[in-house]
Amino acid sequence: MIPQKTYILGIESSCDDTSAAVLCNGQVLSNVVASQKIHEQYGGVVPELASRAHQQNIVPVIDQAIKQANISKEDLHAIAFTQGPGLMGSLLVGTSFAKSMALALDIPLIDVNHMQAHILAHFIEEEDATSPDFPFLAMTISGGHTQIVKVTDHFDMEVIGETIDDAVGEAFDKSAKIFGLPYPGGPLIDKYAQTGDPKAFPFPKPKVGDLNFSFSGLKTSVLYFVQKQQKENPAFVQENLEDICASLQYTIINILIDKLKKASKQTGIKRIAIGGGVSANSGIRKALKDGEYKYGWKTFIPKFEYTTDNAAMIGIVGYLKYLKKDFTDMNVVAKARIKF
Ligand code: KG4
Ligand code: ZN
Repeated sequence: MIPQKTYILGIESSCDDTSAAVLCNGQVLSNVVASQKIHEQYGGVVPELASRAHQQNIVPVIDQAIKQANISKEDLHAIAFTQGPGLMGSLLVGTSFAKSMALALDIPLIDVNHMQAHILAHFIEEEDATSPDFPFLAMTISGGHTQIVKVTDHFDMEVIGETIDDAVGEAFDKSAKIFGLPYPGGPLIDKYAQTGDPKAFPFPKPKVGDLNFSFSGLKTSVLYFVQKQQKENPAFVQENLEDICASLQYTIINILIDKLKKASKQTGIKRIAIGGGVSANSGIRKALKDGEYKYGWKTFIPKFEYTTDNAAMIGIVGYLKYLKKDFTDMNVVAKARIKF
C-alpha cells in the first residue's frame, strides 16, 4: 500500500555538486546543494578532488536536507540515489551512502539515471508549473551531455539525437577558459552576452547529420579566432568580451534551436522541454519562448534550481519509481556510463 504521505530522500553526487533533497508526494520539502569551489583554480572538474569533497559534504548535506524538511530520518519511505552516468569516484560516494542508509533504516533503495532525472524534473509538483503531457521532446543540455530525447512516458524514453564529441556546456566552459574566465564559464558568458552584439563575430556552425550535435570544432575555431586577433591586439579579448560572448552564445543557441526544429518536424511533436545546467542560460530560455509563436511550440522550462545538478530531480524519479514499487537491491553498483 502506498502511504498517504510518501517521504523520499534523493541523493545526487554524479559530478561536482553534493546534493540531498526530501520530497513528499512529489513536492520538494528541501533541496540542499553543496557546490565544490575547489575546481575553479583548475579550470575544470578534477575527479579525485570531487570524490574527496563528496566524502566531506555528504553527511552534513543529508543532515541539513532532513532537518529543513522538518522530518526525522525514520519518517523516510525510500532512498533514491544517482547510479550514473557520471564520474565513478563521485558516484561511488552517493551510491555507498545510499545503500548503507537504506540498510540501516530497512527501507527500499531506488537507483536513478541522472539523465532521466534531468528530464523528469519537469514532474516536480509546483504550484505555478504544469508538467508536459506525453509525448514530448526533451533537450538535455549540460556540462556532460547534449541530447534530444523523445519521451513517450515517464520511463519510456528514446535518445533521437546527441553530441558526437563535446557537450554544449563544455563548449561554453572551454571557450570561457580561452577568454581567461574562471570555471564554470557558462554563466559568465551568459552574463557578458547580455550587453554584447550577437552578430559582431560570426562563428561557424558545424555540419553534423540527423539530429546529432558536434561542439569540438566550434571550440577550436574560437581558439584560432582569439589567437589571430591577439596577434594584432593583445588586449582584444578584454576590449571585446561582451561582443565575443554574445556572438558565441548566439551561435550555440542557433545550433540547438535548429536541431530542435528538425526534431519537432520529424516527430510531429510540438511540446518541448529543456533540462540540464545549460538550460539556465537566458538566451536559450528566450529562444525557446520565441519558438512558441514562431513554430507553435508549447515549451517547458524548469525552475532555475532544478536545471543544474540537484537532488530534487533524483527525488522525483524516486517517487515515480516508488509508486511502481520499482526498487533495487544491495547488489546495485555505480555506473559511469549508463543508457536509459
Ligand atoms: O547539469 P549541470 O549542473 O552539470 C552537469 O551534469 O554537467 O551543468 C553544468 C553546465 C556547465 O557547463 C555550466 O557552464 C553550464 O551548465 N551552465 C551554463 C549556465 N549556467 C550553467 N551555461 C550557459 N549559460 C548559463 N547561464
Ligand atoms: Zn547534470
